[in-house]
Amino acid sequence: MISAVAQAPFRLGVVQNSPRFLKAKQNVSACLALMDGLAADLWVLPELFASGYNFRSKTEAARCAERVPDGPLCSLLKAWTAAKDCAVVAGLPEKAAARLYNSAVLVQGPKARVYRKTHLFGNEKRFFRPGDTGFWVSDVKGVKIGVMICFDWFFPESARTLALKGAQVLAHSANLVLPWGPEGMKIRSLENRVFSATANRVGRERGLRYIGQSQVVAPNGGLLARLGENEVRAFVLEIDPWTAKDKKVHPANDLFEDRRPSFYKR
Ligand code: ACM
Repeated sequence: MISAVAQAPFRLGVVQNSPRFLKAKQNVSACLALMDGLAADLWVLPELFASGYNFRSKTEAARCAERVPDGPLCSLLKAWTAAKDCAVVAGLPEKAAARLYNSAVLVQGPKARVYRKTHLFGNEKRFFRPGDTGFWVSDVKGVKIGVMICFDWFFPESARTLALKGAQVLAHSANLVLPWGPEGMKIRSLENRVFSATANRVGRERGLRYIGQSQVVAPNGGLLARLGENEVRAFVLEIDPWTAKDKKVHPANDLFEDRRPSFYKR
């Protein structure tokens, strides 16, 4: 399939699923079966990968939501990642007091950290609160991972903030329905010189069609792997995350050193 580098390789896994709406247990088992037999250091799973996406009401979303870090899905992922010596980024509806968030957890054995989607899309605004965690970067086996969710890609500030915080890999958990995300993420990778792993879903749900095309993009904007629009599959590829430390696009141009933030204010 794909190549990347030999020095300090990092195994990056992506899952593209086709969840059955509200059938969380079944959907989790299906994803674990796709990942079975493949070894990765980091797996990226889609947004709301176990519950499905297209809720009708806050009540319906609340029925699938859980608390982080001790809800049933988080607990399962903690045990699974401990057994496999890996980390997982996975989307889930999160309950916090009376509030619901469209969240993604980065789970690594006993540790679970939550990112709450900053830029809500469409009907999500009816059930979920806008995320309040901000963008953060966490360490997985010495590699800096930044988490973002689906529509966040449309706001260049999301990827830029993560990259400025040191992210080498953007873990992009998605349920893309608009057509531009996969190509757009090539630009997010290129302009920040980072890897991006977009995990999307396929299938239809209450009138929405999800566009698949889960992918990994290199810091030069090159596509390293992309799945089809209807494919249900997991894949792993080896990358050299250290190439994402180099922000030079020309001997005289380092994209981060050349920024002129004083001119970027309104
Ligand atoms: C989306 O943000 N799920 C389109």
